[in-house]
Amino acid sequence: MRILVTGGAGYIGSHTILELLSAGYDVVAMDNFSNSKPAVIDRLYAVSGVRFRFYEADLGDSLALDKIFIENKIDGVINFAGAKAVGESVEKPLKYYRNNLSGMINLLETMARFECRQFVFSSSATVYGAGGTPPFREEDPLGALNPYGSTKLMGETILRDVSAADPEFSAAILRYFNPIGAHPSGMLGEDPAGIPNNLLPYIARVAVGRLPYLTVFGDDWPTPDGTGIRDYIHVVDLARGHVAALAYLAAHPGCVTANLGTGRGHSVLEVLHAFERACGRQIPYEVGPRRPGDNAVSYADCTRARELFGWQAQLGLEEMCADSWRFIQQNPDGIQ
Ligand code: WQD
Repeated sequence: MRILVTGGAGYIGSHTILELLSAGYDVVAMDNFSNSKPAVIDRLYAVSGVRFRFYEADLGDSLALDKIFIENKIDGVINFAGAKAVGESVEKPLKYYRNNLSGMINLLETMARFECRQFVFSSSATVYGAGGTPPFREEDPLGALNPYGSTKLMGETILRDVSAADPEFSAAILRYFNPIGAHPSGMLGEDPAGIPNNLLPYIARVAVGRLPYLTVFGDDWPTPDGTGIRDYIHVVDLARGHVAALAYLAAHPGCVTANLGTGRGHSVLEVLHAFERACGRQIPYEVGPRRPGDNAVSYADCTRARELFGWQAQLGLEEMCADSWRFIQQNPDGIQ
């Protein structure tokens, strides 16, 4: 089976390529390097020992997509390519609708032309909106909190409609909770450009001295220690969830939605102290105001992924922090 991985130089895409290769899939990857680095592809070659085909291409370029499908028999696609910064999506909604939706529609039309009918979509826990009571189940009410979340919600709707129109089309909509951690080799990891929006890469840069301290966005939440609770999942577990979902799609046409989380929540301070234990040094922090758009608690009910895909997360917060720490120690200034 040959799988096209779009956004293959990205954080989750690169880790998924490694899991696909070790599960025996052939891989073709593409990325436009708008939010990733070419060096990641070389590192994937080094870690895996496999020089899979790579194309520098954008989902908006139909000719480039045709070339990939003409030159390679593609059996399935995992679509990681897309913009994902919540704050930026509020300032530049059209960039997000073009990147995340027009790009996906282009890809789906190309797949149809080449009779490629298996599609795995990166969705996000953000589609559970502001209301609702965790643990979130797939059939819970959905809502978008920002344009980024809207692109995920609309992407899911598009896939459900395409699947209803073409009985042979099979799609897995995977709702990620909070992916953190890094490949145990220390060669791959989360390496956002600029100041990180997300908790773990921010803490890691404080630990390595690139940032002075963490600002905790509110300690007056209705949680045991007052700080926000999220379902952090090791990126390697998340990658393995994609391999399990692909295997399911090969035998089950139709459209399936599944949470990829651990089913456990951890607070900001729990994560910070876990990282302190992993790196053996104190992480200074100050409490600041709540961040607009945040909610208090989010974590997954992962029953469906376990029952359908036979998958569940194996790695705990200690491993997530230890692997993140190893990655940033080996790459204090990020991947060059
Ligand atoms: C986690 C917790 C913050 C930074 C977002 C997107 C989601 C997905 C993952 C793309 C919260 C607190 C954070 C900081 C802090 N992105 N925090 N200080 O907001 O749960 O999810 O990223 O797919 O779609 O919504 O993740 O890491 O930003 O925040 O106190 O400097 O850490 O308040 O409680 P979030 P996060």
